Amino acid sequence: MTTRNIEDGKILIIDDEPGNVRVFERVLKGAGFKNIFSTTDSLKAEEMYKEIRPDLILLDLKMPHLDGFGVMEMLKQVETETYLPILVLTAQREPSTRIRALESGAKDFLSKPFEMTEAVTRVKNMLEVRLLHNEIREHNRNLERKVQERTEELEESRLELIHRLSRAAEYRDHPSGRHIIRMSHYCSRLAQEMGWNRDQCELIYLASPLYDIGKIGIPDHILSKPEHLNPQELEVMRLHPIIGAEILSGSDSALLQMAESICRTHRERWDGSGYPCGLKGEAIPLEGRIVAVCDELDKLTNAHPYDGVKVDFEDAVNAIASKSGTLFDPRIIEALKHIMPDIKEIAAQLPDEDHEKIISRYRPVGN
Ligand SMILES: [Fe+2]
Repeated sequence: MTTRNIEDGKILIIDDEPGNVRVFERVLKGAGFKNIFSTTDSLKAEEMYKEIRPDLILLDLKMPHLDGFGVMEMLKQVETETYLPILVLTAQREPSTRIRALESGAKDFLSKPFEMTEAVTRVKNMLEVRLLHNEIREHNRNLERKVQERTEELEESRLELIHRLSRAAEYRDHPSGRHIIRMSHYCSRLAQEMGWNRDQCELIYLASPLYDIGKIGIPDHILSKPEHLNPQELEVMRLHPIIGAEILSGSDSALLQMAESICRTHRERWDGSGYPCGLKGEAIPLEGRIVAVCDELDKLTNAHPYDGVKVDFEDAVNAIASKSGTLFDPRIIEALKHIMPDIKEIAAQLPDEDHEKIISRYRPVGN
């Protein structure tokens, strides 16, 4: 019953006595009820219930073939979602029968012989409860929907912020932002190949763009220096994993925890020659090892805006594979070889934009 009018409630009468059914129909119609259905054959109750979905059932207890208890048992199986008012019609006044009926799902009783004013009042009361129940249910559903929507909005804006933050960190190196997008797709695909489940792959996809966030803390003259860095500058540059991890540390979010781990370990190398901690082999978290490979692959296969050097995928994979077991995890290199068709497809869909074109977007009109 979605309407607010009690008179619109659907009432189903199940009673083997045709006389009783006729009297109820007449009285209920006289009281203004518009949707009255009935059967004298309780075996049809299930079919009728499913078709009509009544708001109230007037149910005789004593019937041939399937009695009122049997009908209530059936209704329990059929209707699992909503509260269903059942008004039991009975001549039996023994408490044991009434208790059994209540236990079986009856909500109220009408005693034979019926007193019709009382019957109409009880029907109205029960429909009113049903109506309120429906309203509360509808209200709760709306609330749940709203909470869901707000949660999704929050989650979206959180992810957007993370993505924009990683773009900010990458901007000087890769103004199109495509490096981190391609790389995060590679990471996710590679993680899947390494046996991670869907949630973990999603996590590395979302977290990996933050891998170089620590470069925010590196002075410009070092970060943008076109020549090789001297040992002192290199030392400063090598602080970026720690700076990034520090920026992201202390979060309860699984995403930021993974991002922190990636920041901290993406420059560690399989043979222990990396930094900042010189971790070796599987002591380096898998996410750090995956990002190390994907970062290298994308850097080799795309022209850096300032030097324009790039190689094709075959050469890039060969170059990376030549460092399998030294710089990179051999298992990851094998997995990478398997998924190269997918990697190439991702790359083809996300080409770098022309650097000059990107910069021109930000020039004032007329210049
Ligand atoms: Fe880095």
